[in-house]
Amino acid sequence: MANTSDTVLVIGACGQLGSELTLELRNLYGGSNVVAADISAPKQADLRDSGPFEKVDVLDTKVLADLAAKYKFKQIYHLAAVLSATGEKNPKFAWKLNMDGLFNVLDLALEQKVEKVYWPSSIAVFGPSTPRQNTPQHTIMDPNTVYGISKQAGERWCEYYFQKYGLDVRSLRYPGLIGYKALPGGGTTDYAVDIYHKALEGETFECFLSGNTYLPMMYMPDAIKATLDLMHAPAEQVKVRDSYNLSAMSFSPEEITASIQKHLPDFKITYKPDSRQQIADSWPQSIDDSAAQQDWGWKPAYDLDAMTADMLLNLKKMKEEQTLA
Ligand SMILES: NC(=O)c1ccc[n+]([C@@H]2O[C@H](COP(=O)([O-])OP(=O)(O)OC[C@H]3O[C@@H](n4cnc5c(N)ncnc54)[C@H](O)[C@@H]3O)[C@@H](O)[C@H]2O)c1
Repeated sequence: MANTSDTVLVIGACGQLGSELTLELRNLYGGSNVVAADISAPKQADLRDSGPFEKVDVLDTKVLADLAAKYKFKQIYHLAAVLSATGEKNPKFAWKLNMDGLFNVLDLALEQKVEKVYWPSSIAVFGPSTPRQNTPQHTIMDPNTVYGISKQAGERWCEYYFQKYGLDVRSLRYPGLIGYKALPGGGTTDYAVDIYHKALEGETFECFLSGNTYLPMMYMPDAIKATLDLMHAPAEQVKVRDSYNLSAMSFSPEEITASIQKHLPDFKITYKPDSRQQIADSWPQSIDDSAAQQDWGWKPAYDLDAMTADMLLNLKKMKEEQTLA
C-alpha cells in the first residue's frame, strides 16, 4: 500500500523511465511530494509543470545531503546510470557513475532514515554462460559489459545493505523498456523504440541488430506497474533482496516489423548489425519471473501486438500535437 503522505525523491527523473515514473508517482503522492532530480533539466512540459525539480549530480554527496535535509524524503528512486551501449564508450566513467551513485544513495538513505529505496537492475547482469531460454532467478552470471558488471555488483550491494543494515532496498531486473514519451538513453534495446518513430515518419528503418535477435522486452506501463507493485508490497513479501527477474514479452526485429506492418503495410526494415549485436548475443532471450509472480503477484498486461497498437496510436497523437503547437 502507498502511504500517500510520503515525500519521494526520483534521481534520474528526466530519463526514459524517470519521466514516466515521476508522473505516476505524482498522481499517487501529489505533485509537490515528489521531487524530480536530474543532472539535466526536464524537457517535457508535464514533468516540468507537475512538481518540484532540483538539478542534482548524484556523485555530489553534499548536494544530496542538502536536498534530503530540505525535503525529508521517505522514499528514493535512484534511476541515474550510464546504460549498456554508452557504457562501453567510457567504461571507467560508467563504473564510477553506476557504483558511486548507488553508494551515495544507499548511504544517504541510512543517514537520513529513508524508509525505502528503489534501484533498477537489468537483464545485462547475465552473460554468455547464462542459460538463454527462460533464464532462472538464480543462475550463472558472467556479464561482459561494464554496465552489466556494475548492475551485478550493485545487486550484491543492495542485498548487503538490506542484510547488514536493515535498509529496505528493492530492485527489478528490467528487460528492454519501450515507451513513446521519451527517447531511450543509449541501451542495446533502443532499436525497439526508434523503429516506431521511423515507421510513423514513413522511413525505412536501419536496425543495428540482426533480424532474428530475440531479446526480452517490456512496455513502459508494465514497467511502471511492476515498480510500484514491488515498492508497495509489504516488506515480508519481498523475499528477493538482490533483484527480481521480470518478464513480459520476447521478440526479434523481424517480429516487431511484422507487428508494425499490420498497421503500416508499407513499412520496411534493413539490417546493419554493429557492436551492440555482441552485447545482445550475450543476453537472455527469455526470462523466468516466477519469483516475482509468486511473491508479489506480478503479471504483465501488454504483449507485442497490444504494445504496437498503443505505441503507434500515442506517437501519432504526439506528433500531431507537436505539428499544431
Ligand atoms: N531503459 C531500459 O531499457 C532499461 C532496461 C534495464 C534497466 N534500466 C535501468 O533503469 C534506469 C533508468 O534508465 P533510463 O532508460 O531511464 O535511462 P536514461 O539514460 O534515459 O536516463 C537516465 C537519467 O539519469 C540522468 N543522469 C545521468 N547522470 C546523472 C548524474 N550524475 N546525476 C543525476 N542524474 C544523472 C540523465 O540525465 C537521465 O535523465 C537505469 O538505472 C537503467 O540502468 C533501463
